[in-house]
Amino acid sequence: MSLAHKISIFPEAAVVARELATEVADALEENPSLVLGLPTGRTPLLLYEELVRLAGTGRIDFSQATTFNLDEFLGIPASHPGSYRSFMQAHLFDHVNLDPQRIHFLNGAAANPFDECCRYEKAIDEAGGIDLLILGIGTNGHIGFNEPGSGLAARTHRVTLKPETRRSNAALFGNDPDAVPAEALSMGMGTILDAKAVVLVATGQRKAACVEQLVTGPITTQLPASFLQLHKNVEILLDAAAAARLQE
Ligand code: PGA
Repeated sequence: MSLAHKISIFPEAAVVARELATEVADALEENPSLVLGLPTGRTPLLLYEELVRLAGTGRIDFSQATTFNLDEFLGIPASHPGSYRSFMQAHLFDHVNLDPQRIHFLNGAAANPFDECCRYEKAIDEAGGIDLLILGIGTNGHIGFNEPGSGLAARTHRVTLKPETRRSNAALFGNDPDAVPAEALSMGMGTILDAKAVVLVATGQRKAACVEQLVTGPITTQLPASFLQLHKNVEILLDAAAAARLQE
């Protein structure tokens, strides 16, 4: 394997979520002012459920924590029911004691998307950088909205979404891929690699091929997640289905 990082394989997605939630709780215990980078998608749903549960028992305290989400659709306001901000409110923010002042999000309705991306980079810097960045991975190997292609952007930027990415987000837009915004704003690969620690989570059989490439393949812009091979502190958490091609 060309990826020398820690790979942990658990029997099922629920166990992956419990492991990661415990890791987040421990990190917050050690550093209550932790700066977290957070993903959306189906994968982190179980994690957010578990974090909410732990917050309810007092095991986890977000009161001093700061969060930065990875990405947001362009052209819709935060209040749109399909926005990633709405997703985060529904699945995490509305249920834990995060200070709204310390929740950071790209504004998909910003008048000037370029300025918005610069503002976000500056806000991350001013927070002291991201301590722990949690990532999912798209079936096409994207992380955040860094899509496969001939090149990758280093910093937070405006992106055109691939048809498969719009399809996989259709559930947020009445199951209509055409209703999914065609563009988004996303942290760049450099923004992601600047995080002090990265945890990538992949579950389910449909992730097995991109996980195999991530772990055994070369670093290539055709699989943006492969750039994580350059990071010194990456942990990959998998369920058995996502790890299926690693065990062959
Ligand atoms: P998913 O998306 O969790 O819905 O599979 C992951 C991603 O696209 O990053």
